[in-house]
Amino acid sequence: MERLAVITGASSGLGREFARQLKEKGEADRFLLIARRRDRLEALADELGNAEVLPLDLCQEEAIEAYTAYLEERKLEVFYLVNAAGFGKFGDYRHVGAEASAAMIDLNVKATVLITHATLPHMVRGGHIIEIGSGSCFTPLPHFNVYAASKSFVLHYSKGLREEIKPLGVSVTCFCPGWVETEFLGVAKPEEGVRYPKNPKPLLKAKKVVSYAISRARRGKMLAVTNWYTKLQHMLFKLLPDRILTWLWLKTVL
Ligand SMILES: NC(=O)c1ccc[n+]([C@@H]2O[C@H](COP(=O)([O-])OP(=O)(O)OC[C@H]3O[C@@H](n4cnc5c(N)ncnc54)[C@H](OP(=O)(O)O)[C@@H]3O)[C@@H](O)[C@H]2O)c1
Repeated sequence: MERLAVITGASSGLGREFARQLKEKGEADRFLLIARRRDRLEALADELGNAEVLPLDLCQEEAIEAYTAYLEERKLEVFYLVNAAGFGKFGDYRHVGAEASAAMIDLNVKATVLITHATLPHMVRGGHIIEIGSGSCFTPLPHFNVYAASKSFVLHYSKGLREEIKPLGVSVTCFCPGWVETEFLGVAKPEEGVRYPKNPKPLLKAKKVVSYAISRARRGKMLAVTNWYTKLQHMLFKLLPDRILTWLWLKTVL
């Protein structure tokens, strides 16, 4: 039986790397690739073979309807769902502004939930859902606030969903990487003069963190927290009050 992987955010960074590695590792042999940039999706589809592209702006409600119809009309059975579409913007509430704040919530929160819900009736027993959280999901982060809060939502949502869908035999893993070399930091960069992490470290390779996330998902693990730094954040999150974690972020990263 074919194993279909649906990957959002497949035109770049982590999403594209998930597609490549799911193929390489024999975890999936058919792909549905989603993002806005059609040319990038088509190039990846050519590289993978047996892949379809669905160029969508997931901030638009019609996009979810189009995706739902696509699955239903073709009666697709999904083995992997990787929800990698997402973005962040550095800056305080004045600099990020209403439009970008709402778009982060629309994409990182709303689209993540709606794509997952649309996919669930098509997921096959033994399948895996990978939602993308972040190292930032563990702590309130001033000057990256809406993004961090949106990822905190993804963490809690993934944990709750995992329990709800246990009877379906589908696992949910929340992947929480630290800083990774993708287009993310370029998109997040604010205008001149705004406070933001200019030299985020350690900067990880997508290849390494995605390989780790797939190994965790295959074993049905709840969390895939990448490198030592993010694991430390995760541990401190359990031990320290938020105000100390926030102080550490302001002093050591920003
Ligand atoms: N890189 C990091 O340091 C890091 C760390 C922690 C978590 N993350 C999370 O990892 C996920 C992937 O990010 P990345 O690092 O791979 O960044 P990236 O290279 O910028 O990729 C983001 C992907 O999201 C897609 N996307 C953006 N807006 C979209 C929209 N409105 N509709 C549909 N697709 C949209 C982009 O495609 P189009 O532009 O073609 O639409 C692209 O494929 C995100 O959720 C991010 O928050 C990243």
